[in-house]
Amino acid sequence: MIREKNMKVINATLRKKTGLFTISYHNGVIDAIEPQAGLLILEGADVIDAKQQLLMSPLVDPHIHLDAVLTAGEPEWNMSGTLFEGIERWAQRKSSITFEDTKQRAKQTIDMLVAHGIQHVRTHVDITDPQLTGLQAMFEVKNEVKDVVNLQIVAFPQEGIESFKNGRELLEKALQMGADVVGGIPHFEYTRDKGVSSVHYLMDLAEKYNVLVDVHCDEIDDPNSRFLEVLADEALVRNMGERVTASHTTAMGSYDNAYCYKLFRLLKRSKINFISCPTESIHLQGRFDSYPKRRGLTRVAEIDRAGMNICFAQDSIRDPWYPVGNGNILRILDAGLHICHMLGYEDLQHCLDLISDNSAKTMCLGDQYGIEVGKPASFILFNAKNDYEVVANQAKAVLSVRHGNIIMQRQEDQVQLLSVNTPAQRDVATTRLAIGV
Ligand code: FE2
Repeated sequence: MIREKNMKVINATLRKKTGLFTISYHNGVIDAIEPQAGLLILEGADVIDAKQQLLMSPLVDPHIHLDAVLTAGEPEWNMSGTLFEGIERWAQRKSSITFEDTKQRAKQTIDMLVAHGIQHVRTHVDITDPQLTGLQAMFEVKNEVKDVVNLQIVAFPQEGIESFKNGRELLEKALQMGADVVGGIPHFEYTRDKGVSSVHYLMDLAEKYNVLVDVHCDEIDDPNSRFLEVLADEALVRNMGERVTASHTTAMGSYDNAYCYKLFRLLKRSKINFISCPTESIHLQGRFDSYPKRRGLTRVAEIDRAGMNICFAQDSIRDPWYPVGNGNILRILDAGLHICHMLGYEDLQHCLDLISDNSAKTMCLGDQYGIEVGKPASFILFNAKNDYEVVANQAKAVLSVRHGNIIMQRQEDQVQLLSVNTPAQRDVATTRLAIGV
């Protein structure tokens, strides 16, 4: 449904620009972005006053498992906290999933994502299931939520391509059914050789079906897990790098610097994208260490500073791998910046890239994404003015507009400081809390 009325947002602050702007849109498309000489005072049903706060492209979650969400503890909790026990617990739960159960949990979670300003989501769906129940359910979900979220579906072989019975056939069938992206998990295959052949096979399928690639790659603390070089080399040789993503690559946090120096040369040439899931990785990795205990993340800051494309994602919400989460990807950004030593001045100036522009590039969203004339009138408003304030204030998206339609509005928190002495002081303190200063 496209809104036909002429609408405008006034007094908006835009990322990486100075001054205030008016953004006009019609039929769900932006038709003008005009700088203002000063503050505008306008009212009416066709005007949204941004009150000098930040207007930006919708947030993106480029890596989540919507088929597994909200299953933590069913039938058993992951007591070791390891990735491998998570896969075992999920295999137990998978035997009881149904079409409706998957749809209900996925849609409940999408509501949580939309409530936090997310409009683009890439979900992995486990296809190591002879019935492909979760995949079929996710196709229906994708269609039913299209007015609020653009959903990309990854055919993800959770239990392996070469190490699971009929793994190759199931992966190809999932692509024939319409999955948008082909996945893999080479570090989970039984042998190094099977891991390598799984990467060759999934890249062959990507070319055959003209789909994107997103591989769970080296999600382990093992410094000898080196499937990333195989994936990057395949992407380079086939000239597919911008359509290929390496998720996790946590082993890179354990590689020695000499190998990593050589590896970066290949990674840069390949042009592949990277996704880090910082809360998930710091929870699952480092589990076999005593002290010092590794953080278990890839080299996020180094990849970013080398000019390669990297973004953050949630991965899980209350499932066998990660028992908490609420859909708020700003919580992931906050944690990621801390864990990756990225709270320096320069990083804080553009840190929202890690959950917006960089993620959109990873998902190959192209003309679907960005605040520009001719692009969809899809944007969010924050209760903060810039990237730094969003993180420092733990701000939240207060409005989400998609193709011209308002799909989410949030009332700001009101807090009263009862210990403040006079009513006048109390009013000032309450107002300042409401705007997050
Ligand atoms: Fe994942």
